[in-house]
Amino acid sequence: MNQAPVAPAATLVIFGAMGDLAKRLLMPAIANLVRWNLLDPKTEILGVSYHDGDDETLRATLDDFIEGDEVWEKLRAHIHYFKGDFTQDETFQRLAGAIKGNAIFYLATAASFFGPVTQKLGAAGLLKEEDGFRRLVIEKPFGSDLASAQALNKTLLEQASEAQIYRIDHFLGKETVQNILVARFGNSIFEAVWNNRYVDHVEITAAEQVTVGTRGKFYDATGALRDMVPNHLLQLLALTAMEPPTSFEAEPIRSEKAKLIAAVHPADPADAVRGQYKGGKIGADKVAAYRETPDVSADSRTETYVALKLTVDTWRWSGVPFYLRTGKALSARDTEIVVHFKSAPTSLFKGTEVTKLPCNRFVLQIQPDEAISLDLAAKIPGPLVDVAPVSMTFAYADRFEMGHRTGYETLLYDVLTGDQILFQRADQIEGGWRAIQPLLDAWAKRGKPEPYKPGTAGPSGADALLARDGRQWHTLG
Ligand code: BG6
Repeated sequence: MNQAPVAPAATLVIFGAMGDLAKRLLMPAIANLVRWNLLDPKTEILGVSYHDGDDETLRATLDDFIEGDEVWEKLRAHIHYFKGDFTQDETFQRLAGAIKGNAIFYLATAASFFGPVTQKLGAAGLLKEEDGFRRLVIEKPFGSDLASAQALNKTLLEQASEAQIYRIDHFLGKETVQNILVARFGNSIFEAVWNNRYVDHVEITAAEQVTVGTRGKFYDATGALRDMVPNHLLQLLALTAMEPPTSFEAEPIRSEKAKLIAAVHPADPADAVRGQYKGGKIGADKVAAYRETPDVSADSRTETYVALKLTVDTWRWSGVPFYLRTGKALSARDTEIVVHFKSAPTSLFKGTEVTKLPCNRFVLQIQPDEAISLDLAAKIPGPLVDVAPVSMTFAYADRFEMGHRTGYETLLYDVLTGDQILFQRADQIEGGWRAIQPLLDAWAKRGKPEPYKPGTAGPSGADALLARDGRQWHTLG
C-alpha cells in the first residue's frame, strides 16, 4: 500500500464541539489520522461551543470516546476550547483574531445554523483566502426540500466559492462505497454488461436494525425519505449508474454524478411506499412503537421506512428500474447494491432445472461485512444436467486489514488536502431533492404510512411494489 502524504497543517475549527458527532466520530477520526501519520503535528483543533468550559473540559469529554494511548496524549495538547455563541458577531470577531493561515470550519451543528454561521464567518472575513486556504464543511441535512436546499446553497455561495465548500455525505466515506468506482472502472469486464441490454433491475438497500431511539425530535420532523434518500441512496445510485468520468479527479467525477442525478426521473407517488414501525420485538429485544418514542407525536404520520421505484432517463438505463428501500427497526443491518442481470436464453436447457434458477446477480455489500459477490449457476456433479445457484464472494476482511475506523478519516483528510471527489456539489444536492420532491408534496397532503412489525423486512406494500413488476427483494441480512 502506498503511504499517503501528510496533510498540510491547518486550524480545524469545529462548531458544535461538545455535540455527539464531534465526540463520537470526528475526534476519534482525527486520532486515527494521527495514528496513521497523516496529520501534520502543527495542526490545531479549536472546539467552539457556547457551554461554559476550558481546554481541559473539552479534552476530558473526549477521553471517553478515544482510546487512551500515546497518540491521544499527543493530540490532547493540540485541542483547545473556544467558548462562543454562534449567533453573536462578537464570537466571530474573536475567532478572526485567533486564526492565522489555513483553516477549516466544520459545522457539526444543528442544520438551522449552517446558513447563519456561514454568513457570520464571511462577515468577519474568515473565509478570505489571503494567508492560506479557508474551507467550509457542511453536514447533513442539507435543506429539507428543494427550495430550502437551493436557498442554503445560495447563502453559502454568497460567502464562499464552490471550491471552498465541502458538503458531507458520510456514506461516501465508507471504503466499500468508494470501491464502487474501482469495481466498475478499474475492471474491464463490467462495463460491457452494465446497461439495459443485460441488466434487468437494480436494488439499493440501506436497512437498519436500530430504532429512532433518542433522536425523536429530529426524526419526527424529518422521516426516512428526507433522512436517507436524496443524499445517501441517491449517491449510491449515482455511483452505480454514472457514465465513466474522463479522469479520476473531483470535477469530472462530480460532473458525471450530477448528470446522472439530473437524469433520475422525479419519483412517482404511485411507485412509492412508506411504513412506520409498530411495537414488537427485534430478536429477543422488546421495541416500543415509533409513536411511543420520546419527542414523537402520538399520532405521527412520519415514515420510518420507504421503498420506491425510480427510473433513469438515459440511453444506458432506459427501461431498467432502480428499486430503493431504507428503514429502521428492520430484521437486519444491511446496506447493499444488487445488480440483477437478465436471464440467459434458456432454450438450450429446456426441460432442465436451469429455467428455474435465479438470474446472475452482482452484489456490493457495503455494511456490515463488506464484500463483493457474484451469483452464478453451476452444474451439480453427476450424470444429469442438474443446476444449483453458487456464489463467488470476496470478503474485504479476508484480504485487507480493515481496522476500526469511523468513516470520517478519509473525509477529513480530503478536506485538509483539498480533494473534493467525495463531497457533493450544489447541483447534486439540488438534483437529489428534485427527484423526491413529488413524494414530499404528495405525502404532506394525504395518506399515512403503513404500519409494519419491527424485526421484519418492512411493510407488505414494499413487497407488493416489486411483485407488481414480477420481482422480489433480495433477502435482508
Ligand atoms: C444518517 C441518518 O445520515 O445515517 C441516520 O441521519 C442513519 O438516521 C445513518 O442511521 C446511517 O448511517 P450508517 O453509517 O450507520 O449506515
